[in-house]
Amino acid sequence: MNEILSHADGGVLTLTLNRVERKNSLNVAMYAALADAIEQAAEDAATRVIVIQGHETVFSAGNDIQDFLKNPPAGAESPVFRFLRGIATFPKPLLAAVCGPAVGVGTTLLLHCDLVYAGDNAAFSMPFVNLGLCPEAASSLLVPRMFGYHRAAEALLLGEPFFAEAALEVGLVNRIVPPSEANALAQQQAKKLAAKPISSLIETKRLMKGPQQEVVLRRMAEEGAAFGRMLREPAALEAMNAFMEKRHPDFSKL
Ligand code: COA
Repeated sequence: MNEILSHADGGVLTLTLNRVERKNSLNVAMYAALADAIEQAAEDAATRVIVIQGHETVFSAGNDIQDFLKNPPAGAESPVFRFLRGIATFPKPLLAAVCGPAVGVGTTLLLHCDLVYAGDNAAFSMPFVNLGLCPEAASSLLVPRMFGYHRAAEALLLGEPFFAEAALEVGLVNRIVPPSEANALAQQQAKKLAAKPISSLIETKRLMKGPQQEVVLRRMAEEGAAFGRMLREPAALEAMNAFMEKRHPDFSKL
């Protein structure tokens, strides 16, 4: 089965995470498919807007933990880092529709979207510390900026979930709707954008985001180096093995 569905219609490219039985966790092949689609869409005049969406019950459980253990990202050209750079530098509008759990990169990718629509069942979390890891996707920079430092510390140090209303309050999402309406609302807004002059959209996004892009990419690289190192260290190995063995991790000796 194709785990990333790609559908183009009237200038809108919709990328659907389609691995619901594994809670749309993202493996290397999925990151590569997403990165390829986004890189191509950036160049292709036929694509004016991208929408990333999941399922009504789950957006994404983040990195596929087994796959991450087997195929840890190796260097800047690895699919996960290509994907993250792709969303951070995508010059045209990037939208997301989020329902259910959005864990790890399932939440941090939203920091790079222009518009985000959430189902009222959305549950966001960035449990990197609980996994013996550190933030990625420039979330260590963008979350404090967006949430304010203390709320960012709660999200990134405690790693506890927060829900649609809190996400709306900090500005991570634009609107909350019933889960059955989130994908349709994102499509409706994407179609509106696709009908606007693309040169104005690109210029406006560049003016809004351009000045911080270099800083974001630098932070992503810095986080990526630490994340890659920490993935091989005892705390992450204990956390990921505990997840697969369905037990609580024991960090007491680490
Ligand atoms: N990597 C690999 N497999 C995953 C996964 C992930 N990130 N998230 C879920 N799965 C698997 C589960 O192991 C389970 O497999 P099984 O049927 O063989 O037991 C299956 O997907 C269903 O997940 P389950 O945990 O039973 O669903 P749930 O509805 O109770 O909970 C989540 C959903 C997303 C809250 C929960 O799966 C979760 O916390 N996942 C891990 C998230 C995480 O830590 N991601 C890494 C971020 S860097």
